[in-house]
Amino acid sequence: MGRYLTKTVFLVHTPILLLHLFISFSSGASFNSNEKKGVCISKGGRFPPYESQGKPPKFAYLELKNLNMCKLFSGKTCCSASQMKSASLAVKNLATYGEATKHCLALFELLECSICNSKVGIRSGHPRICASFCDQVFEACSDAYFSSSNASKQVIVPCGASEDTICRKASKWVTNGTAFCNATGFTVQIAEEPCFGSSAMKESLRESFFEMISMELSALAGFFLFNRLEKWLEKRRARIQREARERLEQEE
Ligand SMILES: *[C@@H]1O[C@H](CO)[C@@H](O)[C@H](O)[C@H]1NC(C)=O
Ligand SMILES: *[C@@H]1O[C@H](CO)[C@@H](O)[C@H](O)[C@H]1NC(C)=O
Ligand SMILES: *[C@@H]1O[C@H](CO)[C@@H](O)[C@H](O)[C@H]1NC(C)=O
Repeated sequence: MGRYLTKTVFLVHTPILLLHLFISFSSGASFNSNEKKGVCISKGGRFPPYESQGKPPKFAYLELKNLNMCKLFSGKTCCSASQMKSASLAVKNLATYGEATKHCLALFELLECSICNSKVGIRSGHPRICASFCDQVFEACSDAYFSSSNASKQVIVPCGASEDTICRKASKWVTNGTAFCNATGFTVQIAEEPCFGSSAMKESLRESFFEMISMELSALAGFFLFNRLEKWLEKRRARIQREARERLEQEE
């Protein structure tokens, strides 16, 4: 049983693991005093404020579990349900109305989930995305459909159910990855600053992955042991009852 479930966990997350291979770039670091504290700083703009604003990123597996998005970052994150809802709506629209390829959906999901990465969470301002990662997302999503948005600082969103909006391919709205990230509400980082999609970030994604897997496995082990314990207690209870019954029968 243990082996079967482990396999399932890996199957579910394999696409995200593969994504790591597409991510490359490098980074240096300079933090302001607020950022040095390592606490969650809400991103503003279209991004819902963090409930854990001012507190350090924490384990949020249970909260993210049922939303099935951004789970990769659940080991250590500033996110809670409100960020998940906004990210999953965007990805759901892209899947339903955007005619996006699987590769586009996977990369766009990772982009939307960037706010749940703990390193993005503790930096101020809009999520900083590496230009190279923006290029990859744009390349994969240039034929997917987006519409204009009047939300603050965001120009385009994946097309939704509403027929009032004009849907056009991403490549008709913008012509490169930098402009794509900017139009979807992210700040593009070109050099020398930590950003989402960098090689340092790749390392932290790998860490996130193993953190999440180990949390999942320990939850599983706990469940397994609890079951064993229950069965053992059940057997013990039955034996005590049997012994008591036998003693009574002997006494009669
Ligand atoms: C966009 O504008 C319409 C009216 O023009 C308004 O009803 C809607 O709430 C706005 N949406 C956002 C996200 O600001
Ligand atoms: C990307 O496109 C924008 C506007 O479409 C343009 O201003 C900018 O120079 C382009 N950037 C690159 C790196 O080509
Ligand atoms: C997008 O680019 C414009 C012009 O360079 C800039 O003013 C704006 O702040 C950028 N948006 C984001 C979310 O970084």
